[in-house]
Amino acid sequence: MHVNGKHYRTVWMEGSTVFMIDQTLLPFQFQIFEAVTHNETCFAIKNMIIRGAGAIGSAAAFAMAQAYMEAKLMNDKDHIAKAKEEIEATRPTAYNLFYAVNRVFEAGKESIGYAILEAQKIADENIASSKKIGEYGNELIEDGFRIQTHCNAGWLGFVDYGSALSPIYMAKEAGKKLYVYVDETRPRGQGAKLTAWELKNENIPHVIISDNAGAYYMSQGEIDMMIVGADRIAANGDVANKIGTLEKAIVAEKYNIPFYVAAPLSTFDMNCPSGKEIPVEQRDIQEILLQDGPDASGKITRIWVCNPGSEALNPAFDITPADLITGIITEKGIIQPNAESVKNLFV
Ligand code: MRU
Repeated sequence: MHVNGKHYRTVWMEGSTVFMIDQTLLPFQFQIFEAVTHNETCFAIKNMIIRGAGAIGSAAAFAMAQAYMEAKLMNDKDHIAKAKEEIEATRPTAYNLFYAVNRVFEAGKESIGYAILEAQKIADENIASSKKIGEYGNELIEDGFRIQTHCNAGWLGFVDYGSALSPIYMAKEAGKKLYVYVDETRPRGQGAKLTAWELKNENIPHVIISDNAGAYYMSQGEIDMMIVGADRIAANGDVANKIGTLEKAIVAEKYNIPFYVAAPLSTFDMNCPSGKEIPVEQRDIQEILLQDGPDASGKITRIWVCNPGSEALNPAFDITPADLITGIITEKGIIQPNAESVKNLFV
């Protein structure tokens, strides 16, 4: 995707440095964060400088490759297994992270060169599968559709194109008229900040709605379909996605609105029989109690938005049962959310 006329990937590696668009500063500032060591890449993943299942997976792959390079310099073979554990401990829910780290870990057993190549290959595959998801998803979108989305599953959440937003980009390219309802997505505001920034950048008409407004617009017949991303999909088709997704799926069913999930095969965890086994990340309650934004001078600052001294709860994801999902858009086509269809993706 392009920013100020220049093509960017969300995350990339040159030499042993990992570069990424700093998503904690968007939409107010556009800056590239440079992670020189695997520790710095872990820091970036944990603190959501890079976020979104696909982008996390790619960053984690690069971090594993960095660890192999470091181990050689340090002449310390134990460093590799330790680094793998550290990378895997950064964010527990997005399956793409574990998928990518394992691939690079295995490739590195051959040579450092293989580890680097594998990490680059994962980034390229990430782009190719996102593009395919866009092509399949576009077939579901009719001219004039009003589409609701939650969180950010756009190109910032992957290496390029994205998952839930990729069909929207392809539909726009195909000349269809669209209107996107963007859930703000408290507490981190990935919808209000990141999805809105992406859509504005791509000249796609959209509106930001508060998280509790979705049911109102669905009940008024203003939403034709909903597309969301996924952080992990269980073998039976249950989906972990950003907190709030479950509520939207329940309301969509009530008003007969097609509810689609878009995700590449690297998000499917065949070792999780159902959503019950998916670990849900609990994040710092400061994310609920305080919010970031620029002050009058443009400096990003943090203010209280809740009663100081009150407790808060901050689960980052929820699980949407397969029976609330109309279909899952993958790079291999659109499947029914059930065990047999999920299994067939891997044969
Ligand atoms: O906590 P985040 O921002 O890393 O959350 C992940 C997500 O971006 C969403 O849940 C998304 O829909 C999954 S795919 C990019």
